[in-house]
Amino acid sequence: MTTKININGDIQDEGFISILDHGFLFGDSIYEVVCTDEGKPYFLNEHLKRLYASASGISLEIPHDETWIKKQIQATLDSAGNDESYIRIIVTRGVGDLDIDPSSCSHPNIIIFVKNIPQISEESYAKGISVALVSIKRNSRDALNPAVKTGNYLNNVLARVEAQKMGAEDAIMVNPWGQLTEGTTSNLFFVKEGRLLTPEKGCGILSGITREKIILLANENGITLEEGKWPGEELFKADEVFLSGTVKKVMPVSVLDSRPVGDGKPGPITQKIMRLYSELLENLD
Ligand SMILES: Cc1ncc(COP(=O)(O)O)c(C=O)c1O
Repeated sequence: MTTKININGDIQDEGFISILDHGFLFGDSIYEVVCTDEGKPYFLNEHLKRLYASASGISLEIPHDETWIKKQIQATLDSAGNDESYIRIIVTRGVGDLDIDPSSCSHPNIIIFVKNIPQISEESYAKGISVALVSIKRNSRDALNPAVKTGNYLNNVLARVEAQKMGAEDAIMVNPWGQLTEGTTSNLFFVKEGRLLTPEKGCGILSGITREKIILLANENGITLEEGKWPGEELFKADEVFLSGTVKKVMPVSVLDSRPVGDGKPGPITQKIMRLYSELLENLD
């Protein structure tokens, strides 16, 4: 159970960043979370592609290429020596003046944080988790675009706080137009009349790597999948709901706003996607 922190190529047991780093001061940073399977980071190319896209989304130039980042990830994994690891790659604007103007920051910091994968209980996968449709809106695409994975997660933090006050484990947010978007750290899928539905990118979501894989799996396995725009109330009519993300993979939702989803158990399409996704991971080379 080892944590290692790589800061600009220097691997340490503990990492320290200046309080004048604009990542700390203003959430002026971007990040990715990658997990390993059999010790190997999976879908790494997809995550790095999104990292560079996020950098461009906030006009930040990452001072190294993907090859360098991959080498540093491997060195940090080797140094930690965990069976399986959670890897967080953060690129901050860097140290600058105590002012939001990013032009005073000349050196972005690249941090690679490696630790053991957080354990999610088997019970959650078997029974499903509870979520709340919260009043906090997902940022609109022309404010802080949810497609850019920035270190500014206060929108999601506030949604999670509201959900917890409602006695739920996680939150689902709608956008300012009342359309379903996503969870606080996951994408949203639901089933109605045998069709698998997921909010389209235009609703203002992070285009999750897991979400993309699930869409491919559904299409390859005869599950009718639709991306679209639905009002928040539509979720209460769903027969099944699940969330997707790198850490939680495919997580069934059995309770929505204290009411059971469908018959209150993970449904057949959710279970099929869980199985297909775990087979996909097992068969990676
Ligand atoms: C807001 C949000 N949506 C969706 C996701 C899922 O993305 P991925 O499947 O790439 O992990 C995440 C992951 O952290 C997230 O933070």
